[in-house]
Amino acid sequence: MKANNPAPDWNQQFEHQAKWTRPLREYLSMQLGIGQNSRVLEVGCGTGAILRETWQISLTEPVGIDKDFRRLCAAKKVVASQLLATSDASALPFAGAAFDFVLSHYFWLWIKRPQEVLNSIWRVLKPGGKLVCFAEPDYGARVEYPPVFFFLGKLQTWSLQRQGAISKIGRRLPEMLASGGFTHIQFGLSGFQKQLDSVAETEFASEWEMLQYDLQKIVPRWVFKSLKESDLRLRNSGRRVSWIPTFYAIAEKPMQ
Ligand SMILES: C[S@@+](CC[C@H](N)C(=O)[O-])C[C@H]1O[C@@H](n2cnc3c(N)ncnc32)[C@H](O)[C@@H]1O
Repeated sequence: MKANNPAPDWNQQFEHQAKWTRPLREYLSMQLGIGQNSRVLEVGCGTGAILRETWQISLTEPVGIDKDFRRLCAAKKVVASQLLATSDASALPFAGAAFDFVLSHYFWLWIKRPQEVLNSIWRVLKPGGKLVCFAEPDYGARVEYPPVFFFLGKLQTWSLQRQGAISKIGRRLPEMLASGGFTHIQFGLSGFQKQLDSVAETEFASEWEMLQYDLQKIVPRWVFKSLKESDLRLRNSGRRVSWIPTFYAIAEKPMQ
């Protein structure tokens, strides 16, 4: 099958994802005191969706890095003065002990050699500084109902794995942080609540755009069209359940 779907608008996708996890991020940021005179870095900041929110609560300007220059350009289009650097997270271009907090959001699922990135984060964190992983999904435990969507979900997970994603990163997060030498590890699941009223149109379109992008070589267009219509019908009548458990974790670099 021909691949003819253009890449989604990444900034729009990331803004949508940011919306799902906002209540938890706001809560954790408040609890941890992120932004109150703290030096903050986001690794894998993409188009800057999380960074922009962090800046709103920060007294000092947060810094973002990403290995994808085009995504940083998209971030600059939204806020021209955003502090950004193109870099791989395994070789962070900062002095040692430069940050109080290193944040991540939907990042570790794309990291094949986490130990290298953890070492790099460890170096730039101050002793007592915290690594805060706001959101990492676990596609291995996703819930889809009615059953026809279960298979669509399975296909998407398979496609993400083929793109290099670690699909069960959520459940592996605490172990990964412990292996990196971090202590005081706390973790949990992001809350989930759906109202049985009509779905937000742009969010629905954005979710399906992403699905279609992931599965364009596997699922014929007409099957997509029919599933999309049925999804909208079921959501609008409050009968559709779709949930990908999303973990968060916080860990500390010990004070020597
Ligand atoms: C799913 S996006 C999330 C972007 C942003 N954190 C957000 O939630 O809006 C993951 C980002 O991590 C970046 N990334 C993946 N591996 C990376 C690495 N080794 N070093 C730096 N950035 C990386 C990708 O380029 C991508 O922009």
